[in-house]
Amino acid sequence: MNSKQMINRIYIFLALFIFISCSEDNEQPVLGTPEIYKISELSHQSFLLDWTAIVNAQSYELDVATDEDFTQFAEGYQQAKVASDQVLVEGLMAGTKYYIRVKALYGSTTSPYSNIATSTTLAAEGMESDTPLKSVVSTFNVGMAIRTDKFSAEHQQIFVREYDQITAEYEMKMDVMMPAEGQFDFSRADELVDFAVENGIEVHGHALIWHASTPSWVENYAGTDAEFELMVEDYIKTVVQHFSGKVHSWDVVNEAVDDQGGVLRNSVFLERMGPDYLKKCFQWAREADSQILLFYNDYNLCWDETKLNKVISIINDFESAGVDIDGVGFQVHISYNGPSAATIRQQAKKITDLDLLLHFSELDVKVNPDNDIDRLTAERDEAQKQKYKEVVQIYNEIPSASKFALTVWGLKDDESWIPAHQGHADWALMYHDDFSFKKAHTGFLEAVQ
Ligand code: XIL
Repeated sequence: MNSKQMINRIYIFLALFIFISCSEDNEQPVLGTPEIYKISELSHQSFLLDWTAIVNAQSYELDVATDEDFTQFAEGYQQAKVASDQVLVEGLMAGTKYYIRVKALYGSTTSPYSNIATSTTLAAEGMESDTPLKSVVSTFNVGMAIRTDKFSAEHQQIFVREYDQITAEYEMKMDVMMPAEGQFDFSRADELVDFAVENGIEVHGHALIWHASTPSWVENYAGTDAEFELMVEDYIKTVVQHFSGKVHSWDVVNEAVDDQGGVLRNSVFLERMGPDYLKKCFQWAREADSQILLFYNDYNLCWDETKLNKVISIINDFESAGVDIDGVGFQVHISYNGPSAATIRQQAKKITDLDLLLHFSELDVKVNPDNDIDRLTAERDEAQKQKYKEVVQIYNEIPSASKFALTVWGLKDDESWIPAHQGHADWALMYHDDFSFKKAHTGFLEAVQ
């Protein structure tokens, strides 16, 4: 080996030495797995979290989510860097179950995830969520729609405790009550009305004339227009008189205005009787019972100006013709993200300015109008609560002379008409499938505290 070779060798050894010592320097320690062992100081928006300290950990990474798959994170708690082995988790939603996991970090090395711990924040302060709705409202009725085929002992118990007005979700519609000409069937409606009368609950009748519940024999009526009109008069008078003294108010005509253009909806009633059919129906209802309150009811009125303007022009027409109308029902089938409170308030004012009664008659709040969730997430649950609260607040603030009732369209999520109507899942009502309260129920209470 000559001296050049010798020097080369020394260089190689040196390089190897430097390489080995550098890689030893870079060696990452193995990190133990932290364990979340304590959740304390629980409040309605925070809790204190402790986990086992890990030797060599430089920091920790914390996930706090509202689902066990960790896809919906509490704000600021997705891979949140934490310097110590204890942290106060803050800014959370009240009454919400959270899933928590943590891992230790050293440089780019991470430990496995800890156990998944869970904690449910306390319900909002100052409000017992099981306070009966009707007990906190004295200036209007709190109503609910019910179907006899979904009216178990549990439904009835909740109803009597919380509500002071009932609407039949289907039983008082024409195709149920007059399945054939001159043949009336009040059996299912009577069941609900008897329950209400026994329990001191007011009944709102829904709905005498509605294009979507017209039996096919009426749609295809064989007689003349004059006979058609007599048949409708007889129907309205027979029904109203049957329930006289038991039913306090009626939706006389439901959904008569088209969605576009502020014109009357095409229906067999419009075709056979002409545009005056509304006046005639209200007139017949009044003739049948001078005591009942008469309502016109429709959807989208809480945001659609054109539609509401058409309703107002119908009402003005009634007035010039001396036809009685006591109020307007806004169905209020809305979503967690709209319409806005300002819009609903503005539309409501147009009716209350006319000194008419205003009924929020079919309230439900969709949380999945765009079909982008497959279960009720904590965020939507909370957004829905805020919307219910907003609507109840708006109703509570209308002038007392216009107050009548606020009616929710069904009891629990799995019985709502919304999933079938929109063709996909939703959770639009105030009770879970197991009859427990949703946040929406607390929202209702908070609005009128
Ligand atoms: C719906 C009921 O909720 C359903 O159970 C039924 O199958 C169809 O009717 N506007 C109205 C209500 O005025 O009568 C409708 O109720 C919902 C839309």
